[in-house]
Amino acid sequence: MADARVEEPRPDPATGPSEALLAEAGLRFEVDGAIATITLDRPERRNAMTFATWRGLASIGESLPAGVRVVVVRGEGPSFSAGIDLGMFSGGAQAGDAFPDGADAEATDAFIAGLQAGYTWLRRPEIVSIAAVHGHAIGGGFQLALACDIRVIADDTKFCMKEPALGLVPDVTGTKPLVEIVGVNRALELCLTARTVLADEAARLGLAEHVVPRDALDKTVGELTTALLAINPGAAVATKRLILEAPTNTLEEQCAAERREQIGRLRELFGAQNA
Ligand code: CAA
Repeated sequence: MADARVEEPRPDPATGPSEALLAEAGLRFEVDGAIATITLDRPERRNAMTFATWRGLASIGESLPAGVRVVVVRGEGPSFSAGIDLGMFSGGAQAGDAFPDGADAEATDAFIAGLQAGYTWLRRPEIVSIAAVHGHAIGGGFQLALACDIRVIADDTKFCMKEPALGLVPDVTGTKPLVEIVGVNRALELCLTARTVLADEAARLGLAEHVVPRDALDKTVGELTTALLAINPGAAVATKRLILEAPTNTLEEQCAAERREQIGRLRELFGAQNA
């Protein structure tokens, strides 16, 4: 079938995505100095995501103000996110946004890439992304949490990779971080049973960096954000770059990357005195 994607006007980096686009996406977006907060905001649908949601996230990423160093992703209401809006399977998609049937592989590939772009920018070295998760994080919601650098979860969190149970595969960037965190065998077990992982197990598996009581979630995320912002900004960016490279580099390549990044740091810290 033809690419059903509706072309959105590109967001103006000075103002970010329009209110209309955010409303259609079911998102709120707030910037406070170096901290940006994205709130999934369809609590009456348990923050289920439409194609507009994923494109709204991509749009936020494209226009993120340069001074933002921490991005917090959270959900309004009882759940982080119930994943894809199931209404879209039964023709409830927004106008012009029909569900692709894969018949035109090239167009469908481009369509899905556009949705994935909503998540991939959260790994940029210039920012640290924090998923503040509570309640259900299912399918695309679980994958959104996995797209973030750090997961702070409430003790009522329930992760579930539901896609295979619906006849689909997890396709919004979640399989790589899942395997990197829990390993191939556990990832297979979680995906191919589509079972629910509660907060305690999530912590044991490394799916959460912090597990806190539900009413301490915002406070913990605030404290983490403060700690992240206290670090030298240039060192933070260079260190994230290094850490992201490490899993695919050989030891030799990683040692070279450390030297390269440290030269940049030394130049910035001491270069002016030696010039
Ligand atoms: N899509 C659309 N509507 C949803 C929804 C979803 N994924 N999840 C919940 N809702 C709606 C319900 O239909 C209900 O609407 P009404 O009030 O009109 O009846 C409302 O949100 C509240 O839902 P519940 O009463 O079920 O709320 P709950 O708190 O008791 O349960 C829940 C929450 C466990 C998330 C449950 O709603 C649920 O299981 N939802 C479906 C989850 C699901 O299967 N998601 C698909 C994942 S696969 C995926 O995400 C694919 C991908 O990205 C590629």
